[in-house]
Amino acid sequence: MNIHVASRPAKSRPEDARDAFAADVIAGLTRHPRQLPPKYFYDETGSRLFEQITRLPEYYPTRTELGILRDHGQEIARIMPPHAALIEFGAGATTKARLLLARCKIGAYVPVDISGAFLNGQAAALRADFPDLAVHPVVADFTAPFNLPRAVQDMPKVGFFPGSTIGNFEPHEASAFLRGARDILGEGATLIVGVDLEKDEHVLRAAYNDEAGVTAKFNLNLLRRINRELDGDFDVAAFAHHAVYNREQYRIEMHLVSRTARTVQIMGRGIAFRAGDSIHTESSYKYSVERFQALARGAGWIPGTTWTDPDGMFSVHALLARK
Ligand code: AVI
Repeated sequence: MNIHVASRPAKSRPEDARDAFAADVIAGLTRHPRQLPPKYFYDETGSRLFEQITRLPEYYPTRTELGILRDHGQEIARIMPPHAALIEFGAGATTKARLLLARCKIGAYVPVDISGAFLNGQAAALRADFPDLAVHPVVADFTAPFNLPRAVQDMPKVGFFPGSTIGNFEPHEASAFLRGARDILGEGATLIVGVDLEKDEHVLRAAYNDEAGVTAKFNLNLLRRINRELDGDFDVAAFAHHAVYNREQYRIEMHLVSRTARTVQIMGRGIAFRAGDSIHTESSYKYSVERFQALARGAGWIPGTTWTDPDGMFSVHALLARK
């Protein structure tokens, strides 16, 4: 299997990943306000729950972005240089990349993901469905610098970052990511980014407080994961899922709020909670087209075309790397 491992070897050992998780959990739960990094949602159960979220009637982002990629596929294809390498940052289920691969003359596809096993599976399926496409998976944390495979170094580069994952970064992190992507892709590159838009607060609140309770399960799974992997004893039923829109910061905030006073043990360490104490588990920033373009400009990109759906719910931006 032609797979490029770009992550630092010391970080890829399971015990190092557990140490990093433990350190982030202890640091996040002992500071105020308490906060946990949203990247820890995505263990096997969390990834499965997220896939369920993407199909919920209230969760509009996934189907809206897919609709934009479908409806504007021809125009998107026109801005792609022929035989470019398509580099996807954090390649998920590759559903969205497949839409581009089917419509554009792509020379090579480079899915970048931290999980090698997941990447291998996706790469094998893509090779079967697109036999003429060169697929060069890269195992790396896409928020840190990594090298592109030698095979694509001389090809024109198109980065792809769908799903409004950029909305889960703090604005300074989003800016750092865009700068890093500019460095990795190089001069002359294009970046296609999916960005969720500001909208009626009722629509936003419903998307993160679905009737079926899947988002609540997804949020609470973080405590289950701590119990499982870090020898924790959270009483998961004693925490409530809260998702609120913070108007000043243009973001949905997800929290886990303790219903009771209790000291939780994690790896032999006691962490006291009072009733009503909250853990901030995720921010999902919503942008206007102009605010996102300003962020991109400040990070070395020139905004090109922006595509939206007819209701202005979601946006897909083409950005060009500034010289
Ligand atoms: C992955 N990310 C863009 C999702 C979002 O909408 O911020 C994660 C999510 N959290 C709750 N529902 C979905």
